[in-house]
Amino acid sequence: MSHDDFLSAGDLSRDELVDLFRLAREMKDDRKKYMDSRKGMTLAMLFEKPSLRTRVTFHTGIIQLGGAGIFLGPSDINLGKRESVFDVAKNLERMVDIIMIRTFAHSICTDMAEYAGIPVINGLTDLEHPCQTLADYFTMWEIQGELDGRRLTFVGDGNNVAHSLLLMGARLGVNVTVATPEGYEPDPAIVEAARKDAGKSGAEIRVLHDPQEAVDGAHAVYTDVWASMGQEEEAEERKARFLPYQVNEALMGRAAPDAIFLHCLPAHRGEEVTDEVIDSEQSVVFQEAENRLHVQKALIYELTQDYG
Ligand code: CP
Ligand code: NVA
Repeated sequence: MSHDDFLSAGDLSRDELVDLFRLAREMKDDRKKYMDSRKGMTLAMLFEKPSLRTRVTFHTGIIQLGGAGIFLGPSDINLGKRESVFDVAKNLERMVDIIMIRTFAHSICTDMAEYAGIPVINGLTDLEHPCQTLADYFTMWEIQGELDGRRLTFVGDGNNVAHSLLLMGARLGVNVTVATPEGYEPDPAIVEAARKDAGKSGAEIRVLHDPQEAVDGAHAVYTDVWASMGQEEEAEERKARFLPYQVNEALMGRAAPDAIFLHCLPAHRGEEVTDEVIDSEQSVVFQEAENRLHVQKALIYELTQDYG
């Protein structure tokens, strides 16, 4: 893999993704093998939004590779207010080896990558959540094998997670369907980019409004919160609008019999997903969450080949 940064789910080719999955699998199977392969490396973790999984898996991952993580929360840097993105990048590139950033506008993440002469990883922006979908497709690959021709359906808001699922799925040859209420469709530019890639991989990309039709025959059913971080004020209004898009037993019943249920978490149980579904045999949400650790270790390892 010859990339400086990982900012978008569309950054990696199909072959690079499959190679990364193989490395993640190796790391998962034998944690000791890569222990200390990045001894002394430091990872700055910039968070402008809350996190459980991203923070813990990045921090644990860098420790398992022999390095150390430095957590910087919203009040530590106060990005763009206390100090510009440019100045933060120019400081950090002289102090640490790699940066992970979770922020609001995607442009903050791409600016950081442009200004910092060290690898930058997108740990979630308003536009994308590519580390999440690395773990999602890795989980699907682990459980269901070859991804080419599989069907994944995302039901809910056309948000950052949906965007990254579309872009990465198109690369991998996965037929991705997104079903949203009218007015909550994914960004047309992302859909177009995914369709362009799908033209090469043979995947089919669909954006629908009917959740039942969308889930019919799916091998993986995915949902996420109806109001993302930063949209808290819209949460109440969205609840009524999104109720027909709840993933419950009736909706899951339309998927393939061996379909898995995925959710990036945190989940709002009783809203976008019922307890019956998230706690069912088909649900692999905690395996999916654990896999953040393995794929991100593989990603850090690949992005820092020059280290040492
Ligand atoms: N899925 C995910 O990114 O979780 P956190 O927001 O807890 O990091
Ligand atoms: N779409 C959600 C994902 C959280 C991991 C959000 O942005 O809040």
